[in-house]
Amino acid sequence: MCGIFGCILKEGAASPLIHESLKKLEYRGYDSVGIVTLNNGELQLKKDQGKIDDVHRLVNLDDLEGKIGIGHTRWATHGAPLKINSHPHLDCEGKIAVVHNGIIENYSELKIELENNGHTFVSKTDTEVIPHLIEYTLFKNPQYSLADAVFEAIKRLEGSYALAVISILEPDKIICARNESPLVLGVNENGYYLASDIPAFLPITNQAIIVNDGEFVIISSKGCEIKRISDSAIMKRTPKIIDWTPEMAVKKGYPHFMIKEIIEQPSTLRNTLRIQDHYLDLISTFLDRAKDVFLVACGTSYHACLAASYMFSKLAFLPTYPVYASEFTEQHGKSVSIDSTILAVSQSGETADTLSSVTCAQQRAATILGLTNVIGSTLTRVSRVYIGQQSGPEIGVAATKTFTSELSVLAQLALRLSKKRGKISQDEMDNLSEKLEEIPNIVEQIIRTQAEKVKQIAKKYSYAKTFFFLGRGISSATAYEGSLKLMEIAYIPSIAFPAGESKHGPISLIEPGFPVLFICPKDGSHKTLISNIMEMKARGASIISIIEEEDDAIKKISDDYVEIPKGIPEILSPIPFVVPLQLLAYYMALEKGLNPDTPRNLAKCVTVK
Ligand code: M6R
Repeated sequence: MCGIFGCILKEGAASPLIHESLKKLEYRGYDSVGIVTLNNGELQLKKDQGKIDDVHRLVNLDDLEGKIGIGHTRWATHGAPLKINSHPHLDCEGKIAVVHNGIIENYSELKIELENNGHTFVSKTDTEVIPHLIEYTLFKNPQYSLADAVFEAIKRLEGSYALAVISILEPDKIICARNESPLVLGVNENGYYLASDIPAFLPITNQAIIVNDGEFVIISSKGCEIKRISDSAIMKRTPKIIDWTPEMAVKKGYPHFMIKEIIEQPSTLRNTLRIQDHYLDLISTFLDRAKDVFLVACGTSYHACLAASYMFSKLAFLPTYPVYASEFTEQHGKSVSIDSTILAVSQSGETADTLSSVTCAQQRAATILGLTNVIGSTLTRVSRVYIGQQSGPEIGVAATKTFTSELSVLAQLALRLSKKRGKISQDEMDNLSEKLEEIPNIVEQIIRTQAEKVKQIAKKYSYAKTFFFLGRGISSATAYEGSLKLMEIAYIPSIAFPAGESKHGPISLIEPGFPVLFICPKDGSHKTLISNIMEMKARGASIISIIEEEDDAIKKISDDYVEIPKGIPEILSPIPFVVPLQLLAYYMALEKGLNPDTPRNLAKCVTVK
């Protein structure tokens, strides 16, 4: 997730405005910043790694000349957060400049093709193929306008993009296009603006034109023309008046970051499916060779590791130890060796406990692998190989999209390892891969159809002093995560454990009306889970269940239920089944008048042990 901004002004300089607007997009990424303007037939460009204020102090982003320009604030995915990888990126001759938010999945193939045709690349980014592809298209079709060349070039891009292009070849235009990454236009009497998000131009104008997926835009000082990429049809669109306050706008109109981040999970999950094969192969090779594998993390990331231990075991027959990072050194420090592999999982890549486990393992010569959201974080620097979960900045203290994104990556790793080891049939492999592709749509459907129901459940149980969250098998990880969410933002003490454990102690807490939430995918433990529900029900518990659609057996014995679409393989079930639990915690916090984004005593990134 990066932020892009551009403008064509009638009066005034573009660069200070782009600089100011990029600051409003910094929540989308802050690894590097860059601006390019057009003035008297030349491109003026400044870019560097670091936060906008730091880069501005060094290079003064405001003194570029010209009324037209584009800029970018980066969240690194392909290529480290270095100056060389910062946007804007240029073609060989420095005539075409591009900023881009998204991931070009086929960039390696395109890069090879372009290199074979004499193009020289300077960065490690996927984006750099775009200016070269436009340049190459113009070379092959000298009669083309800039817009024709961009139009032709983007048809060859696979993946997600919101991009903006300027060129000295036609210095009065900005060309943009969108596929799966956000892009909006703003308009006022002084010009046209493009941005990843409305807040970027809200102080300048409240008139916005939404660009849809699969659309292409030519902006000049006289106006903007929107075309559908598939058939070149011209799309007529009038500006809408946006009546959000600046604070609402940063949250895209949602009242809290947490709900925004829950709702954006379908798109972040789609992003996780774009991870380069190369990284999945490399990490699964290390896992395959290890004598013992430790999955080390804290909080939500630990719950993802717990679920992953079931994935690796069931799909690749690889036993792993999921370990709380804060316990790693005490529990396993002495048994770690040169033959051990540690897969450290951390959204921030900066959690002190996780990093200290890594240090302990490094001292014993173990191999360190990382899964994180923040490329350039300490974890990426200390890992032999790391992989990015690609879910964009998470602002809410409660990790939501982190859990589902990490799980999606870990499931892909388990599948890759399974393939390497030949452990499951091709049919099963194909089925799981297909289902994984469907998960983003399934999550979208759950949010669309079940959120209101969950809200009502939160209202009904807002009296509760304690909650149980129970599941069997991989669903016990989902239960732990649901319980953590409810505790941390709604301050409701809640206890999670594998459902089979209840009769070994916790069931003594049950009295009439005690809410017990069961996670019930239709897997191998379904029948036993029904017995666990009956044990609770017999003692007066109120049963809330997260079930598959049409699971009448559990519906009948539940006081309340939330339905998940049918046919999700057990191994992938934590991804959709956790979503109602995230929503439950969110609505419970609201019921109690709490701000879910800023729970007391907690920090987004815990950098102390
Ligand atoms: O950045 P990390 O994934 O390493 O963070 C780990 C935990 O601190 C984090 O998941 C925390 O538990 C969240 N508040 C959970 O919502």
